[in-house]
Amino acid sequence: MMGSEQSHLDFKSVINLGSFYTPPYLVKIVFDLLKKQGVNTDQYLIVDTSCGYGSFLQGKKVIGLDIDASALAQAALLNPHAKLVHTNSLLDVQRSRYGIAGTDKIIIVGNPPYNDRTSYIRSRIKQNKYAIDSDIKSRDLGLSFLLSYNKLQADYVCVLHPLSYLIKKTNFKVLQPFTAHYRLLDSVLISSADFAQTSKTTQFPIIIALYKRAPEDGMDYSFIQNQLWRTIEGKTWLLKQFDTVDNYITKYPNTKRIAPEKTVGFFWNLRDINALKRSKTFVETENCSTIRITQEQFPYYCYIDIFKDHIQHIPYYFGNCNIFIDHDNFMALKDIFVQKVCAKYPFLSRAAAVKNQERSADTVLNGYFRHLLHNHYLD
Ligand SMILES: C[S@@+](CC[C@H](N)C(=O)[O-])C[C@H]1O[C@@H](n2cnc3c(N)ncnc32)[C@H](O)[C@@H]1O
Repeated sequence: MMGSEQSHLDFKSVINLGSFYTPPYLVKIVFDLLKKQGVNTDQYLIVDTSCGYGSFLQGKKVIGLDIDASALAQAALLNPHAKLVHTNSLLDVQRSRYGIAGTDKIIIVGNPPYNDRTSYIRSRIKQNKYAIDSDIKSRDLGLSFLLSYNKLQADYVCVLHPLSYLIKKTNFKVLQPFTAHYRLLDSVLISSADFAQTSKTTQFPIIIALYKRAPEDGMDYSFIQNQLWRTIEGKTWLLKQFDTVDNYITKYPNTKRIAPEKTVGFFWNLRDINALKRSKTFVETENCSTIRITQEQFPYYCYIDIFKDHIQHIPYYFGNCNIFIDHDNFMALKDIFVQKVCAKYPFLSRAAAVKNQERSADTVLNGYFRHLLHNHYLD
């Protein structure tokens, strides 16, 4: 057992501990970001509270914590200069427990575990095993880790975490105690597929983020909307640059609000672009996961169905965004979207009469999506 790649755990433990170890070229980005901001890491205590084999334990004074004793045994061999503590880093979070003085200047580095306990893919093996301080408890371990960095009052935090923590409003709200005290200085987006043993089919964006403690000058959601994201491939984008379908229609079941006689069809509930990859769209019968569609909103749901057909042209870094729409162009092409969908699903007869599909429809729709995604379109 040598090197930085995790090799001592079975698959179930990997999932439960979130033990996807970081390849060296991504560890390097963390230290490059700090350097670029002129932070001299020698003047700080470097702390990784989920250190695994210790890939991030670089510098003169380093402390590594982990709940996995076997990982720490390997970390001790690979990082003889490091102080290592076997502990649950989310319980009784306070500097003194790890021998860190209140006056010490610290930088938290690393790649905390992120196992969203509500995600259905792995819910069968994920379990809520360890106790967590009540003020940092959340449904995703990674959110709890970010909140713990605030409790430790780190001067800088430079870690990897899902981009969804910042761009999904529900997550951003949970992070409030952190975001109120930290400001993003620089970042790079990478794909979850850069980690061994992770799904290559549903990639999601991970941010390597450098935050500085700034209690007077934290981040609100508009800061996130205006942030220029930079990907490792050199692409840049802003949340603000895209309009999304949830500005026009509901994403969630609405049975109570829409009468049966107003309903022309049923659509699977919506989350983000990645969820659409796996989910159904129009369905014949209603259930607790479906949305009732009115005649008026029908074209938007047609849009989403066709959007799903073009989803392979969308890069991983948009995976946790809501479904993009170019509203003016869509309105001009609305009938084409509707006709295409009605031809696809005969059970939608109540929604619209099926006209003959124009032969050029596919070319027009392809053109729409190329324009929508612009230089982000994947061929
Ligand atoms: C994504 S791995 C990162 C390991 C290493 N920092 C790296 O990037 O190569 C997450 C690590 O968090 C540890 N971990 C999970 N829950 C923990 C907890 N509550 N307290 C401390 N460590 C924990 C796991 O054992 C695992 O080693």
